[in-house]
Parts: sequence; structure tokens; C-alpha cells
Amino acid sequence: MCGIIGFCGYLNAKEELIKGLAELEYRGYDSAGIACFTDRGIEVVKSVGKVAGLENKLPPQMESGCGIGHTRWATHGGVSEVNAHPHRCGNVTLIHNGIIENYHELAKELEKTGRTPLSQTDTEVAVMLLDSLYKGDALEALRGTVERLEGAYAFCIMFADRKDEIYCIRKGSPLVCCSSEEGCAVASDMVALLRYSKEYFVLPEHQVAKVTKNAILVTDLEGMEVSPVMLSINWDMSAAQKNGFKHYMLKEIHEQPESIRRTLAPRMKKGEYILPDFSEDGIEDELFLNVGRIVITACGTAMHAGMMGRILLERLLRIPVSVEIASEFRYGEPILNEKSLVILVSQSGETADTLAALRLAKEKGAKTLSVVNVKGSSIARESDYVLYTHAGPEIAVASTKAYTAQLTAFYLLTFRFAYAVGKLTAKEVSGYMQGLNEVGELMEKMLEQKDRMKELSKRLTPAQDLFFIGRSLDYALSCEGSIKLKEITYIHSEAYAAGELKHGTLSLVTGGVPVIALATQSDVFSKMISNVKEVRARGAMVILITKEGNEAVVENGICDEHLVIPASHDVFAPFTAAVILQLLAYYTSSYRGLDVDQPRNLAKSVTVE
Ligand code: F6R
Repeated sequence: MCGIIGFCGYLNAKEELIKGLAELEYRGYDSAGIACFTDRGIEVVKSVGKVAGLENKLPPQMESGCGIGHTRWATHGGVSEVNAHPHRCGNVTLIHNGIIENYHELAKELEKTGRTPLSQTDTEVAVMLLDSLYKGDALEALRGTVERLEGAYAFCIMFADRKDEIYCIRKGSPLVCCSSEEGCAVASDMVALLRYSKEYFVLPEHQVAKVTKNAILVTDLEGMEVSPVMLSINWDMSAAQKNGFKHYMLKEIHEQPESIRRTLAPRMKKGEYILPDFSEDGIEDELFLNVGRIVITACGTAMHAGMMGRILLERLLRIPVSVEIASEFRYGEPILNEKSLVILVSQSGETADTLAALRLAKEKGAKTLSVVNVKGSSIARESDYVLYTHAGPEIAVASTKAYTAQLTAFYLLTFRFAYAVGKLTAKEVSGYMQGLNEVGELMEKMLEQKDRMKELSKRLTPAQDLFFIGRSLDYALSCEGSIKLKEITYIHSEAYAAGELKHGTLSLVTGGVPVIALATQSDVFSKMISNVKEVRARGAMVILITKEGNEAVVENGICDEHLVIPASHDVFAPFTAAVILQLLAYYTSSYRGLDVDQPRNLAKSVTVE
């Protein structure tokens, strides 16, 4: 949420910042701005709207090798040029990602020093505070500032009298740094740094990075040099580009078979039987012994992956498993102890509520395991154990390939766990693993039918309300289908456990209302068909999704459209059915002429609560 970048080196900073901001735009896109050191001092340019608008506004004479840039997702203060970053006060110009919670009280104090905020943002108090404390010693001013700030922040700061130097500090919000022959750069995430290097480090919290043309010096707040842990990424620039697809979302939908294979490969150890193997992840079977309760907590799509995980784990382990929305969990009073295993799920690894849930779980003595996509992210670093998904960079705000990679991680985890505690034999696990191994191929088959989903989406395009119904794993998938549809098409939609509809919501199902009914699970198939008949009887326009082999059961007239997923064990049906729901959402959004990759009001990586 909010993208920040800093560059100091031998290239044209203005151009580098714009390129970086365009890559970070998915983190927020209501306004943008840059500040650069030039011969005339620090020059700031801001603009409302997307980065392309800012680029058009930049004066050609803005020659610089060092600057900072920001693309905003508004939290405090509306969308306006004055609220856009960078913010400036006296000697200090800075950009910020995060939220300063005590800004109100600080603003009152600072007003007494003659500094009055111009904007409605929480950020401006940080720049005012820093300016009030800056007497020529950057570290001293930073020490005094962070002592007073409550909340989360990643700052990139320029002091007017320290030309071609950028100071960075963070707490809670992410910041990664890299250096190359072309210069040194910092950003909210690696996507914007990849053109310089694949080697990077995460700036440790409460430490200061001083970025200059040739080096990044990291010290603690007392000035003691520290050596941050170097990391490297295993994907390249092309993974973060559209590669001929019209949108990132469509590209990412197509990348799913590969991302699942990448997630499976390091854990697929073949011997007499195929068993999931977490030795490279440092997860021993011992973790699974003596677990009395499992809690899965996450937000949005990641939480929906957790809903699927809950059903699988509970079904095979016979241990109570619950799924909690992270923002509720963190302020609840969860009953946890050393026999509890808390599983956190997050693509970005930076989601503020999920991170807070993790910290609470640890505080309560639970063991923590996270399923995370971004290497070295806060959630990954702070969890006791990490099971990385290898989906690669996900740029579209609507999550697709990260979701199915998260499902893959849950399947692996469930099978290994069940084996470790003796609920499944090696042979049984091996059978499941063979099925999991084939999922990528089945998804490819599904993708071959994309024109069918494209055509069908025309029927959804005019809808105002829409319902997804399903039972068991299909209900968990319905929740994901619904969020995907509403976030990018702006059509109101709800997911319902099919049996629950008649307890109230059925009153909303009237003539022509689309209902997407998932009936891929054999044990509840006949019940689902009855529910489909119920909505059909009320005039709903039904799109029914079943598995190959069930065609005969689907009587004439039961649905308006029938989509068939390839035959597989029931447990793997969500992977292929997910492709249908993602494509329906994607094409419907396109037909409605919307910004598929950057839907209104949303942003990727929600680092504020
Ligand atoms: C929806 C979507 C969001 C995220 C949620 C959690 O398509 O992407 O609902 O799933 O914000 O984000 P992460 O997984 O980064 O913690």
C-alpha cells in the first residue's frame, strides 16, 4: 500500500523514479510525486492520478542523479495534490508508506513551533517533527523522531543540505535495498529494483540506510554499522511484465500451472512413494506432533485459501481447525497455547492485520507457520516456520496465481501432516500427491476453454447482483469467486453455502439474477442439484459448474449454462473451477470497460489496518 522508491547513482534519477513508480503503481494509484536534488536545490513535482500523469508534468530541465518517488493510496486526507507525497518542511523532504497513529497530538505540539500542516495527511507531522529536530545531524534527528512516532512507517528522506544522500528508516512497512554499478536504490518491493540487481536486503526495522551513489551504509540509530542479511530472488524482469497479455491479471491466470509446479517441485521427493518433503523448508514432522488445535488466519483471498485448508486439514487430521479473519483475530481474545498451531497466509507477507495476528499468536505461545509468497517479507521473517509459495511476482491487484499456489501449499501441508500423525499411510499420501502433480495439466486444459468463459461473461456484464453458491470445498471456492468478481467488475455479489440460501437470501434471487453454482463435490452433489433447482424455480440465470462425468445427471432446463471441469479426485476440483471463476471475473470486468489490474479504491499489499 503506497509505493515508495529512492535512487541515487549514475543514471537520470527522474527517469529511474518514474520507471520504478510505474512498477509499484499496483500498491496505490490515486496520486504520485517525486523529489530530486538538482542544481537549484530539492525540486518536488506532484500530480493527482496515475504515474503517467506525473511523468507528463515533469520539467525537462529537472536534471538529477538522486531522488525519491511515491505513488499513493489515500488513508488520511483525500486525493489531492497537496496530500500527495513527497512532503516538505524546512530542510526536510520525505515520502512515507504506513500510518502515523499519533499524528493529531504531534501536529498540535508542532504548531507551537510555528509549523502548520498544509495537508490533511498523517505524514506531514513526521516531516515537521524531523525538521524541528534536525540541527545538521541526520541520525540524531531520526532518533528523536522515531522515538515520538506511533504506527507504521517506511520513510525515504532528503535533507536540503545533504545533497545526493537519501536516508531511510522503517517500522512495520516494508523497504528493500540494492546496489549496482549504476547506483543504489530502495523501494517498497523488489519488483522496482530488479533492473538493478537480483541481490537485495530488507532494511531491518529501526535501522538507518544512508543511500549514496556508490554504497548503502546501514547503521543502528547510534551510528554502529550493521551488515544486513543479503537475499536473492529467483525470477527475472519478464516475470514482472505483461509479456504480450493485455493485463497482468490475464497473464497471472495463465501462469498458474507453472506457479503450482514451482511450488510443488522442491517438496516432491520421489522414492517408493511420493511424499511431501519439507526438509528444504526446515519443517520437521515434530512440528505436527502434539498439535491440539489449528487456527488459520489471513485476509481476503488468502483467507479464502485458508478456508479451503481448514476443510482439508480437519477432514484428514480430525483436529479442530478454525479460520479467522486476521483483523478480527488480532483484536479478539483467541484461546491459544503451546499446543496450538497458527497458520498465517499472505501473498505479500506484509499485510498489517496478518502480521499483527502473527505477533499475537507468538505472544500467546502458539507455534506459527506462514504460507508466504514474498521472500524475506515481515511475516516470513517473524514466523517460526515458513512454507514459501513460488508464484513469482503478482502484479494485478486481484490475486489469482498466489491463491492457487496457497491452495497447493495447504494440500502439501495437509498430506504431510496426516502422514506424520499416522492418519494417512505412505501409499495413501502418494496417491494424493499424484493427483496434486496433475493439477497443473488439468488447469491448462481448463485454460484452453477460455473463449467459452469470454462468451459467457457477456451474460454477466449487465448484472447488478450476483450469487455464488456451493457446498463444502465449493463453498470455500465460492467465497473466492465472489471477491474476485466484485473487486474488478464492481458488481455486487455474495457467496452462500448453498443450503443456507433459503434461510433469508433466497428473497433476493429473482428473475434473471445470475447464480453461479458450483457442484463439483460428489458427496454433496445431489444436495447441490436440489439447491440449483430452488434458484432456477425463482427465475435465476444459472451457470452450473460440474465435473466431467456428471453431464448425464444435469437434466434439461436445470441451468442456463453448463461448464464442465476435467475429471479428477474431488479434492482437486477447486484448482480447475478457480480458473473458470477467475476468467469470468476478468472478462466481465473487461466488457464493462474497467481497469482490471488496478480497480478503484483498492491496492495491493495492505500495510495499514
Ligand atoms: C483479492 C486480494 C486481497 C488479498 C488480501 C491479503 O484479490 O488480493 O484480498 O488477498 O489483501 O493480501 P496478502 O495475501 O498479501 O496478505
